[in-house]
Amino acid sequence: MMSETMPAVLARDEGARGAWNELFLGRAPRPEVRAGEVLVQVEACSVNRADLLQRRGLYPPPPGASPILGLDFAGFLVSVSPEVERWHVGDRVFGIVPGGGYARYLTLPANQLLPIPPNLSFVEAAAAAEVFIAAHVSLFVEGGLMPAESVLIHGGGSGVGTAAIQLAQARGAIPLVTAGTDEKVGRCLELGARLALNYRSEDFEDAVMRFTGGAGVDVVLDWIGAPYLGRHLRLLKEKGRVVVIGLMGGAKAEIPLDLVVTKRLRVIGSVLRGRSDGERAGIIRAFEDEVLPWLRDGVVKPVVHAIFSMAEVEQAHGLLRESSHFGKVVLVWDTVRN
Ligand SMILES: NC(=O)c1ccc[n+]([C@@H]2O[C@H](COP(=O)([O-])OP(=O)(O)OC[C@H]3O[C@@H](n4cnc5c(N)ncnc54)[C@H](OP(=O)(O)O)[C@@H]3O)[C@@H](O)[C@H]2O)c1
Repeated sequence: MMSETMPAVLARDEGARGAWNELFLGRAPRPEVRAGEVLVQVEACSVNRADLLQRRGLYPPPPGASPILGLDFAGFLVSVSPEVERWHVGDRVFGIVPGGGYARYLTLPANQLLPIPPNLSFVEAAAAAEVFIAAHVSLFVEGGLMPAESVLIHGGGSGVGTAAIQLAQARGAIPLVTAGTDEKVGRCLELGARLALNYRSEDFEDAVMRFTGGAGVDVVLDWIGAPYLGRHLRLLKEKGRVVVIGLMGGAKAEIPLDLVVTKRLRVIGSVLRGRSDGERAGIIRAFEDEVLPWLRDGVVKPVVHAIFSMAEVEQAHGLLRESSHFGKVVLVWDTVRN
């Protein structure tokens, strides 16, 4: 018997590594619920920087994950396996997945679900999922950011950046950010950054040292990688931490180990996607305890830059390619617009 199919955004493989494989709306096999899992009807998902790499064959999904793009989702439950007690058909849910967010239906273990707070729409929940969870894990869990500590966040206008500024501020820490345009600098300040600077016209190391009176920062959240590592190690205070979550600028760097030793620094790498189901469930429960109340009470808010229908996926990716967005670009099915 042929398995049921569903609509999904698919990539036409051009055969060359690095090619911008064309995206189109097609059909894919609909996943079936296994023990301990739920089936979600996806209403919205967001575009993440990693999707741009995956469509070019540069960031393959981990073994066992859906080959369809999409690292997050918001929707409602259409099927729940019998042994699951907490969740019911019709519940509004959101979360992260290692793949499959750009499909109409996806399955995941029930212990990795989050309830959508009543004040958030599907679009806002999709805009929050991957980037608030990534910012929470990198700043709080891996980086150990404490109240009154300072944190340097690059790309303050990005999805992760807009989440990280707000989470740092909500914890009582001091977010300092870089951004690529003066307009983004202004918006980062409105969002809660205490220092924001245009890294294209000002040296961030000088600016951060001036702002902190030469003290430097406690934590750096970084996805530029190699070209910035030396400067980050210079900027960190004693016992400082740099959390590397991406490598947009390159992967190979020389580390001035004298700074690491004398200041007792830590260089920490973090990635959500490759983690085991057990670890993902732990991350989600910690997020539910610490961040969900802030989302529910409006202490932190997803920043939605633009909404596109699934059929407009190329336009949505175009915004991230140009980096003209501030916050999140969201894709929706049918006519869901909020
Ligand atoms: N490890 C994980 O678990 C994890 C999870 C989520 C995301 N990530 C990573 O986190 C990064 C952000 O993701 P996203 O989806 O939020 O991406 P995004 O919205 O596309 O943002 C990327 C940002 O990088 C900034 N940028 C580029 N070059 C820069 C430079 N030299 N200095 C400072 N900023 C620079 C851009 O800022 P301007 O346009 O202002 O120049 C842009 O705002 C990506 O590398 C992604 O892969 C990792």
